[in-house]
Amino acid sequence: MCGIVAYIGSKVARPILLEGLKRLEYRGYDSAGIAIIQNGHLSVQKKIGRVANLEAAIEGKPGFDGSLGLCHTRWATHGGVTDFNAHPHTDDRHGIALVHNGIIENYSALKTYLQERGHTFNSQTDTEVLAMLIGELYEGDLEKAVQGALREVTGAYAIAVICEKEPDVLVCARKGSPLLVGIGSENEYVVASDGAAIIAHTARAIHLDDYNVVKITREGFRTTDIHNTALSPKVQQLELELEQIELGGFQHFMLKEIFEQPKSVRACLGGRMDMREGRVVLGGLAAFAKDLTKAKRVILTAQGTALHAAMIGRYMLEDLAKITCTTEYASEFRYRNPVIEENTIVVAVSQSGETADTLAALHEAKERGALALGVVNVVGSSIARETDAGVYLRVGPEIGVASTKAFIGQVTVLSLISMHIARKRFMSADQCLDMMREMEAIPAKIERILEQSQRIKRITEKYVERENWLFLGRGYNYPTALEGALKLKEISYIHAEGMPAAEMKHGPIALINEGLPAVFIANKGRQYEKVMSNIQEVRSRGGHVIAVATEGDTEINKHAQDVMYIPEVCEPLSPMLAVVPLQLMAYYAAVARGHDVDKPRNLAKSVTVE
Ligand code: AGP
Ligand code: GLU
Repeated sequence: MCGIVAYIGSKVARPILLEGLKRLEYRGYDSAGIAIIQNGHLSVQKKIGRVANLEAAIEGKPGFDGSLGLCHTRWATHGGVTDFNAHPHTDDRHGIALVHNGIIENYSALKTYLQERGHTFNSQTDTEVLAMLIGELYEGDLEKAVQGALREVTGAYAIAVICEKEPDVLVCARKGSPLLVGIGSENEYVVASDGAAIIAHTARAIHLDDYNVVKITREGFRTTDIHNTALSPKVQQLELELEQIELGGFQHFMLKEIFEQPKSVRACLGGRMDMREGRVVLGGLAAFAKDLTKAKRVILTAQGTALHAAMIGRYMLEDLAKITCTTEYASEFRYRNPVIEENTIVVAVSQSGETADTLAALHEAKERGALALGVVNVVGSSIARETDAGVYLRVGPEIGVASTKAFIGQVTVLSLISMHIARKRFMSADQCLDMMREMEAIPAKIERILEQSQRIKRITEKYVERENWLFLGRGYNYPTALEGALKLKEISYIHAEGMPAAEMKHGPIALINEGLPAVFIANKGRQYEKVMSNIQEVRSRGGHVIAVATEGDTEINKHAQDVMYIPEVCEPLSPMLAVVPLQLMAYYAAVARGHDVDKPRNLAKSVTVE
């Protein structure tokens, strides 16, 4: 995905655009660019690297002080990371500039068509084709040319477009990639990929729906579809505060968000546990109480960290609600011709609510008659709006590309949903009350783990030069092992593999050599003894064992080189504690290796392309 910010109003656009772009830089950051119209002239500047590079490049340059403009941070899909491939892209006749998030799937055929009509291209991107197509169709009405072009393209887009021949017009549109229009007080508008770039100016915004086209001038705006049919979108209130998207004294957003987790769990639980009646209260699911009761099967679908949370939810739904449950990579589910019987619920789990594969899997599930639920963090996101019902995480904006508090939020919500369904089936009020009391104790237990952060940092630094790590867990903590491996991989670039601890003997044990770090989740639980055996198997081959263990376990010290302790907790909730040392290890490893923790190479916060 990428970051788009556009502005039209009475102020100088450049500082508004660049400040907004910095707030979106976590979304994608291989290159950046800006286009401004001043006195009827279009100026464009594009640079590989961070927004700061772009800012330096236009410092003091004439032509960038107009009050209409747009800018972009790119996450390349078509064409390498070069200045030429950076956005904005322009046409070659009318001074049109465009920024885009998504993929124009039929760009190649369109490019051939446009080349035959005399257009010359400067980049390898799909986006430039859309800019050129709008130019080809332009006859003095930018809105009309954009509508016409969008009727010709297939794929996904969020776009903002300006033209030097219409210095009072900004056109934006979306299909499949998020875009919001922030409505300011004095006839000014900020268009952006998410609310983080808008909230400093206004909390009133429209979330564009697929095929929406919005023409904005300094006098107002109008919304149509791509066939010019007038629409009346709802203006919503952004639920976002500036301090939530600022570092607040931490060195990185990821560390801030790891330390926010006690607060995140409290926010996620707030108002959702009725301690008198011994039941979970999920208003978002109230209309589907009967469907939940008679459900025969639940399919949880997601990608990445969200899938690991879904896998924990699967254990819980089967364990607590006694309901058949499977988890699926959304990217596989959508193409696999899945069997969806009657009384099947499909749950899309997603922090951003914009992951293209998860959104597509959701569409597939709905097509086949499933009840579609969402477990999402970003309010008003595509997945949130396209599900039949859902439960928001309420953990606040997650800026760090490596997901931490959202993971804990997803596991918390899935625990609540499991208890909610279990109470409609087999769980008694007392059993539910016991579980809710355990949930209530989680934030304080996370705080106890966070107090060990410097000790965990020291342990991590002992192994940070090792290039291959294993993460092993059983039962509820097999997905936690996967999550620990992903965290380490994605920000420290160390190769790490997570697996069920028992699986190691079926091949991966060949990887064990002298000093290889093997991180075991060895908290007290049903399979503790089995995990201890697996630890022995690693030790006897020279591997170094780093264990996550339960406070008071002295046995583990005889077998593990290093131990990180978590408080006693019931097994279903243990991943919420066991993951915290793993998050901290990944963070400290990345810092020790000198990487940009919040913007790891090649990654983006949400993968809105396929
Ligand atoms: C998590 O640390 C990764 N950044 C990535 O795996 C992420 O979880 C995945 O892309 C899914 O994103 P979503 O939750 O926004 O759908
Ligand atoms: N597909 C476009 C490109 O590769 C847009 C990528 C993005 O969403 O940043 O330039």
